[in-house]
Amino acid sequence: MTESNQPKSEPKVKLTVARNGPLRIQGARELIESGEIQIQWSDGTPVDPANLNAFSICRCGESANKPFCDGTHTRNGFERAAEDVPESRE
Ligand code: FES
Repeated sequence: MTESNQPKSEPKVKLTVARNGPLRIQGARELIESGEIQIQWSDGTPVDPANLNAFSICRCGESANKPFCDGTHTRNGFERAAEDVPESRE
């Protein structure tokens, strides 16, 4: 990351893409509770994370608790990001 990509202040919400793992979301509790952001199914039904402080969205597609990560990616050899988006090679 270049210096120009650095945030000017500490972000309220942090999204972290794990190498060959989930999308980790931290700090969204306030925004979810206030309704400023919502996680929903395609039919509009809200999806509430069990832990609002920090949760992870599955990217491997094999979690038994979709859309949330249950750790299955550690056992299934998930490396799809690099295959689907070659420029993202990790
Ligand atoms: S990314 Fe963790 S179970 Fe899919």
